[in-house]
Amino acid sequence: MTTNQDRIIIFDTTLRDGEQSPGAAINIDEKLTIARQLSRLGVDVIEAGFPYASPGDFEAVQKIAETVGREGGQTICGLARTTSADIEAAAKALKPAVKARIHTFIATSDIHLAYKLKKSREEVLAITSEMVAYAKSFVDDVEFSPEDAARSDPEFLYQVLERAIAAGAATVNIPDTVGYTTPSEFGALIRGIKENVSNIDQAIISVHGHNDLGLAVANFLEAIKNGARQLECTINGIGERAGNAALEELVMALHVRRQYFNPFLGRPPESEAPLTNIDTRHIYKTSRLVSKMTGMLVQPNKAIVGANAFAHESGIHQDGVIKNKLTYEIMDAQLIGLTDHQIVLGKLSGRHAFQTRLKELGFELSDEEINKAFLKFKDLADKKKEITNWDLESIVNSEIQQPPELFRLELVQVSCGDRSRPTATVTIRTLSGEELTDAAIGTGPVDAIYKAINRVVNVPKDLIEFSVQSVTAGIDAIGEVTIRLRHEGRVYSGHAANTDIIVASAQAYVNALNLLYTALQSDTQRIHPQKIDLAEEIVAN
Ligand code: KIV
Ligand code: ZN
Repeated sequence: MTTNQDRIIIFDTTLRDGEQSPGAAINIDEKLTIARQLSRLGVDVIEAGFPYASPGDFEAVQKIAETVGREGGQTICGLARTTSADIEAAAKALKPAVKARIHTFIATSDIHLAYKLKKSREEVLAITSEMVAYAKSFVDDVEFSPEDAARSDPEFLYQVLERAIAAGAATVNIPDTVGYTTPSEFGALIRGIKENVSNIDQAIISVHGHNDLGLAVANFLEAIKNGARQLECTINGIGERAGNAALEELVMALHVRRQYFNPFLGRPPESEAPLTNIDTRHIYKTSRLVSKMTGMLVQPNKAIVGANAFAHESGIHQDGVIKNKLTYEIMDAQLIGLTDHQIVLGKLSGRHAFQTRLKELGFELSDEEINKAFLKFKDLADKKKEITNWDLESIVNSEIQQPPELFRLELVQVSCGDRSRPTATVTIRTLSGEELTDAAIGTGPVDAIYKAINRVVNVPKDLIEFSVQSVTAGIDAIGEVTIRLRHEGRVYSGHAANTDIIVASAQAYVNALNLLYTALQSDTQRIHPQKIDLAEEIVAN
């Protein structure tokens, strides 16, 4: 194998670490939709999940392996702790993929050894050798991570990495698990690994990092300068706590500043060859898809994909941009696919044109889903003259790919104004076909609707987020509502879109309740790869 990588490998972990974000849990179909979009985006590796976590997680990884893993050219990866049961589950789920990778990990910092693993350094070394070799008995491509590497004793880290590579790991990933390190420290750690791990030339150095101090992207860029060639990142930077390093920020930093980074990859500074395989024109679309499906909104001032990232509000800036874009713009919005909002369809467009456009946008829907989406489209076209690609994406993402409908919103009606008390009436149909109607008064129309729904579907919960965004400009724009509910420490998101934001608000609430009830009904426990007490779980051979 060659480890003289002269380009950067993009390893996307949106579906694994990203999905570990509180409230970001997504169902199997949504995971598959995201995986297909990641494939179009051009990531090299898709970490599809942690198969041992639950039957649902196993099935999602398996489905991605047998679809995207056969068609897309991506390596499909599954996470496994260093236990035989985890590794076997990952191997089984990944079997259909043409290129399969098992990513196995064990903590190496003294604090994790003492309190989480309750293992000695010698035991961790032995487990590393044995479990990497075990993973290698199933797949050629094994990645190893020493969890909490950034807080580990470098000398011990070198020994663990040497063992992992000797046992067959082709990629060694260095995680800053708690987002603690700084760019120069992380760069020095990567350099130390290059200089002190005797067999490092047989492996690719990867980095993984969390954004607790807002330094993840900066840490990764410094790591590249010191020899890292794979970046583990997520769309919109979602992930545990403050999230992971954001894929779009890393890719665009490497693209916009390639003359600066080229020499670190052994290229002449003026080389125009891309540093990654990413098709940047898919970045914005992927960001919107992940945001919708996870219910995790993108802050307006977020780099690259925030609503304001390419908006020039100040007069001076606008004047400068009109005279010469480069006065205030370091990249063109087209580069990330931001101008893809032209009018595409209207009231008279037929089913065929509609279906073709959805295909071009990358949606693969069943006949039943197309019928459902087409009805929504016609309904929207009656209210809104010009339908854009963004409207179409909104229809599909919000109306078609929804959780199982235990409760269906049949009717919502409000009366409000400055002289009346906001009052709402709702009718909900249950799975058994029963129609339940109730009414309530609230502080505003949405509050009244939610109180009325609570009278029908009652489970203790806190509404922790409510937000409305418009899809396109104009008074007839679709409004997208995202809400998040918390029940017993878990967060459930609901999402809906409609030209009437009151209806969208009601639908988003019912969607979140459907998710919550589905979770309550399923009795399978989901294991968190990093938080479960490994002391009892690890098979110390
Ligand atoms: O943050 C971390 O250490 C991880 C590992 C499992 C790679 O996510
Ligand atoms: Zn992580």
